[in-house]
Amino acid sequence: MKTSKISKFYEKSIEERLALIKDFAELTDEEVTQLKQYSCLNFEQADRMIENVFSTFPTPLGIATNFVVNGKEVLVPFATEEPSVVAAASNAAKLSSGFEAKATEPVMIGQLQVVNSENPEEGIKKVLEKEKELLAKANAGDSILIKFGGGARKITGKILETKRGKMIRFHLLVDVRDAMGANAVNTMCERISKDLEELTGGEVRLRIITNLAINRTVKATSIWKKEVIGEDTIEKVLDAYEFAANDKFRACTHNKGVMNGIDAVVIATGNDFRAVEAGMHAFASMTGKYLPITKYYKNTNGDLVGEIELPLAVGLVGGATRTHPTARINIKILGVKKANELSEIIASVGLAQNFAAMRALATEGIQRGHMNLHAKNIAVQAGATGKQIDEVANQMITEKNINETSAREILEAGK
Ligand code: MEV
Repeated sequence: MKTSKISKFYEKSIEERLALIKDFAELTDEEVTQLKQYSCLNFEQADRMIENVFSTFPTPLGIATNFVVNGKEVLVPFATEEPSVVAAASNAAKLSSGFEAKATEPVMIGQLQVVNSENPEEGIKKVLEKEKELLAKANAGDSILIKFGGGARKITGKILETKRGKMIRFHLLVDVRDAMGANAVNTMCERISKDLEELTGGEVRLRIITNLAINRTVKATSIWKKEVIGEDTIEKVLDAYEFAANDKFRACTHNKGVMNGIDAVVIATGNDFRAVEAGMHAFASMTGKYLPITKYYKNTNGDLVGEIELPLAVGLVGGATRTHPTARINIKILGVKKANELSEIIASVGLAQNFAAMRALATEGIQRGHMNLHAKNIAVQAGATGKQIDEVANQMITEKNINETSAREILEAGK
């Protein structure tokens, strides 16, 4: 049976790790060869993605184990430069009872700004009277999206009283199916802008998607049982959560920890992490107060329940999700066929990451977990190679003296 519960993954050799992932995700030999090329983008591929390419910037790709989302075992690729993130998420998933997650329909919002309308109220009315025709026009020319069941769904209008006079803000709601949606939505907004100008008598200026995707959210929840993590830890995690819920300085870092996991998967799948970041922070402020994006409470059993809800505009088609060869393999490893499934896994990862950080912070602190890798890096900086790296790192950890001077002294003493 397929399982994400691979114990001591970190102790396995790179060949063993790749063999396990190959087996889990049924990767082909070519895909494994691709993964073995540490700078996986060749010049032509990179040059097609952005401008002025002169090199690539590789990031470590790790696999988070133990995740079970909606009853399905998943191995989750994380692209991140931060030590401890993959281990923390894997551990939180191991301690949890699995994740239940549900995404809404993938409806994004395109915004159109209308200025200089003589009568904005009348303008909105006229546009809404023509809603059906405008939606048909927005959809004309996007036959693939329509074929897959997506398309423009609704138009709303609102007057904004600004320092520069009244403006109209139109929202065009578009079901983007398995795309992130920016291209489809922006094109549709441009397609109807002349009509909006005629109907409102104003000028359409900005025509752009909003990353505050309040109609494309995902909720994930999990339970950490008191028998597994202990009642004392539950109380401490709840105190840590209350701190974040009542202090924006703490809420900001709390949410940063959530995004350690979310961004790592968003990047690994070639998605736009800036869009997801912007959406999350705006969503965290929806009440007018910046709040943690997760919630924790005890259920009647006394177990810890964690919940997360956030907008997650991620796609499986278009952009780097298709053109980046490793992103394509990562999507295959995740085994997702729909963008919603991907967002359900990503939200679960965010919750796990947050639980891991809170548990560590509220109990032993996070530095101990960081020390192992940190000590190894210091050993390398001091000139250790091969077996020396672990030896020097272990001695520094035992002596509780982790710095370059101490690493150099240990190396000298060993000569
Ligand atoms: C560090 O990258 C993330 C944490 O600061 C998150 C948190 O404080 O909850 C540990």
